[in-house]
Amino acid sequence: MSKQTILVTGGAGYIGSHACVELLQAGFNVVVVDNFSNSKPESLVRVQKITGQSPTLYQADIRDKQALSDIFAKENIDAVIHFAGLKAVGESCQQPLNYYHNNVYGTLVLLEAMEEANVKQLIFSSSATVYGESTCNQYAEDFALGAINPYGRSKQMIEDILRDVSAADKINQSTSPWKIVLLRYFNPIGAHESGMIGEDPNGIPNNLLPYVSQVAIGKLAQLSVWGNDYPTRDGTGVRDYIHVVDLVKGHIKAIAALKGEQFKTGACKAYNLGTGTGYSVLEIINTFEKVTGRPVNYKIAPRRAGDLAECFANPALALAELHWRAEKNLDDMLADAWRWQSNNPQGYE
Ligand code: NAD
Ligand code: UFG
Repeated sequence: MSKQTILVTGGAGYIGSHACVELLQAGFNVVVVDNFSNSKPESLVRVQKITGQSPTLYQADIRDKQALSDIFAKENIDAVIHFAGLKAVGESCQQPLNYYHNNVYGTLVLLEAMEEANVKQLIFSSSATVYGESTCNQYAEDFALGAINPYGRSKQMIEDILRDVSAADKINQSTSPWKIVLLRYFNPIGAHESGMIGEDPNGIPNNLLPYVSQVAIGKLAQLSVWGNDYPTRDGTGVRDYIHVVDLVKGHIKAIAALKGEQFKTGACKAYNLGTGTGYSVLEIINTFEKVTGRPVNYKIAPRRAGDLAECFANPALALAELHWRAEKNLDDMLADAWRWQSNNPQGYE
């Protein structure tokens, strides 16, 4: 069988670069489209160093229809993994139009280009942030949606669009229906075990792990723990942290599932990608100190607006239907995050 070719939008980013490594190592051809708005070409140089193979790179914006059409005309694309998007919750509240334009409009342009090229297999990066508030902290795919900020709503809107596109196939009795997987990520952390690629946030990080790593290496003075009065086991927020390499392996399982019975006549299905276990902020700090031998200077600060007390995945559906489960533990995630940070104190610069 000839090699499948996967178009990876946002392939130079944190998760996208790890996906490129796993795809190349699994025997796929990889084509990347990225505008480098939140990444650097160096990440793909590192992908080449790890795998000995290079993805084909197009520097372009997914909102540029002509550029996408040219890529589909030139490359023999079988399926698309769509990572490209803006992802900072706080920034999305300040710049909602920018977020909707980049994420929602960008996805519309991509879908039009895919439809014209008759490439109708798509894996989409969604997020646990699409879920609404729930009395149960362990989220399953059939829980009600109800994102609470523009970033989350952009993901929820895209999910709605993709469900509509798939539903239209049934009405139109399409002979080449869309096959779409929505992957709802919990909290991706860690880095490739080589320490050569990892998360390289611009400016001061918002997310816990890059902040902890930058305090440990001395770039930042002190971590603020946002609240210790939540109804959790130690009062700090609990999340489902998942190793980025496990996460991207879920995408490869999803590509395989598109060939199976479930998607034979077309479908759009959502799956959680999480471990099913939550850890508190203090547990993360303590485990990081144990694994790395580095102290993390922190203080307790007031709660951050918009944070839930506790949120973790029910990953049973991904196991049953994608045959995927996370394999790495918290020690692996934190050791790998630290290897990346300590080998690359300035990120890719
Ligand atoms: P990232 O910012 O590192 O990667 C996104 C990539 O997309 C970057 O390389 C960026 O330059 C590129 N990009 C953005 N807009 C583009 C456009 N219009 N055209 C072309 N390229 C564009 O982010 P990430 O952490 O790798 O996240 C990847 C995807 O996963 C995003 O869609 C994000 O919303 C989603 N996600 C991430 C997390 C997380 O915690 N990291 C959690 C849930 C979902
Ligand atoms: N936290 C701190 N101090 C910090 C940063 C975070 O105490 O400096 C705490 C938060 O209060 C929370 C936990 O660490 O309890 C995790 O916070 P993150 O910001 O790392 O992650 P979130 O769960 O808030 O959100 C992340 C992404 C979202 C995504 C969501 C679900 O930022 O984009 O996971 O996938 F939608």
